[in-house]
Amino acid sequence: MQVVVCKNASEGAEIVTEEILSALSKKPELVLGLATGSTPIEVYERLICAHKEDGVDFSSVQTFNLDEYCELNADHPQSYRTFMREHLFGEINISEENIHFPPSEGPELAEKCLRHEEEIRQAGGIDIQLLGIGSNGHIGFNEPTSSLASRTRIKTLTEKTLRDNSRFYEDPSEQPQVASTLGIGTILDARRILLQAYGDKKAEAVKASVEGPISSFWPGSALQMHADVTFVLDESSAAHLEMIDYFRKSRTEGLRLQKDNTA
Ligand code: PGA
Repeated sequence: MQVVVCKNASEGAEIVTEEILSALSKKPELVLGLATGSTPIEVYERLICAHKEDGVDFSSVQTFNLDEYCELNADHPQSYRTFMREHLFGEINISEENIHFPPSEGPELAEKCLRHEEEIRQAGGIDIQLLGIGSNGHIGFNEPTSSLASRTRIKTLTEKTLRDNSRFYEDPSEQPQVASTLGIGTILDARRILLQAYGDKKAEAVKASVEGPISSFWPGSALQMHADVTFVLDESSAAHLEMIDYFRKSRTEGLRLQKDNTA
């Protein structure tokens, strides 16, 4: 596990965007696992900029979003399909048929979720999975006590998640209680994972995920079992980390080695 403590969220977004663009330059048919929420928005803005200003081509990229609300249709202003259209897909040259969301509508959702896992496999697996983290430690909508081996399925949202997202709903009765999400096992299958967390509201979840015991009570802690994961943090979200000086030192040393090797 790598932990990068940035001076602010913008530096974090720059690091994440650079890694995506570098991977894309080597593999035009990159398979990206994407997240919604406020955390990844600046990365998406930077990717749009790379497309519009530098002509970066997304036409062969495939995307698999982490989650979607079950009780909202695709055009609902709060659906994650709307979010992704507004914040990324509508602004780059991605093909509609290359965009995937976990099944969230209609009958036989359990069977459709299994087929979704097959679609990810057929695409060759996720190359880079972007993650945020909930203040309760959820990744995707894998709420606390989710099986660490879970696959794509329907989850009931916790009161904490509902409270964190209630600002988006004028009428509380409209807020969805249930969502479909890639499982923790599905996320761990990605070849590379980049988790961004910014702000003091995330400090407890970051501490538990990075330094706590692996526990389904803090789903982010499952990432300790992944061989190639980086937590990209700012000073506030990293504030509770006991090992913060070590993480700073290992970043400095890593950058020094990189410089020496390219000099
Ligand atoms: P946020 O949500 O990016 O809006 O903080 C993250 C999450 O709940 O996973």
